[in-house]
Amino acid sequence: MPRDAGGAGDVLRDLRTATAEEHDRVESTLDLMDPHLDRDRLVGVLGRLHAFWVAAEAGLDAWARRRPDDAAALDWARRRRAGLYAADLRALGADPEAGTSGGTGRPGLPEVRDTDEALGRLYVLEGSTLGGTFIDRHLATLPGLAGGPRLRCFSPYGADTGAMWHAFRRVTREHVAADGDAGRVVTAARATFGALADWCAPAAQGTTA
Ligand code: HEM
Repeated sequence: MPRDAGGAGDVLRDLRTATAEEHDRVESTLDLMDPHLDRDRLVGVLGRLHAFWVAAEAGLDAWARRRPDDAAALDWARRRRAGLYAADLRALGADPEAGTSGGTGRPGLPEVRDTDEALGRLYVLEGSTLGGTFIDRHLATLPGLAGGPRLRCFSPYGADTGAMWHAFRRVTREHVAADGDAGRVVTAARATFGALADWCAPAAQGTTA
């Protein structure tokens, strides 16, 4: 059912509120702001994130094939990021496939059935670029990583981070104001965030092999 502009605007506030707990869980599990973060733990975290992005993007790619106009409105092709995680892992001397195959399993993510669910999933993936700018700056200060490669996965848009986030928010609001279902967007975001938090648990401090 169409919603008024005020209601549509609330979807972003609802997304933030409904996923705040999962965000905290992911943030503390990954502990990327750790002043003692070293190369091996960073590789463990990136391996988990790479496998997650591969799975999350596969669902979005299938949606984009069914809903090309919605995918274009969101600039989906530019938002794909699994390749950046893989490139960063290789730059760190690690095998990106180690986390996506073999005995480590795969993140359990539901199918993306429509644009409501795509927006919920994208909220999680795109929002991570906001914290990503802080992570990027922090990594640059770490003695344990000094002289290492400059990573691209955390802050893929550089100076365009704000513009890309703003565009995501605008399209989400427009979709809900037209005929989207804000509740289903939020449900999909919670499912994505929950799956990410569960998937990242093995990368928590002290549990990486
Ligand atoms: C892959 C893991 C992560 C995901 C999926 C994620 C997701 C998100 C999302 C969805 C938002 C948007 C919240 C909103 O609606 O405004 C956000 C914002 C933010 N995140 Fe994360 N996040 C991740 C990791 C981190 C980490 C490790 C940190 C620690 C530095 C962090 C710090 C922040 C901060 C500071 C913001 C707010 C930025 C701003 O308002 O300018 N995030 N994140």
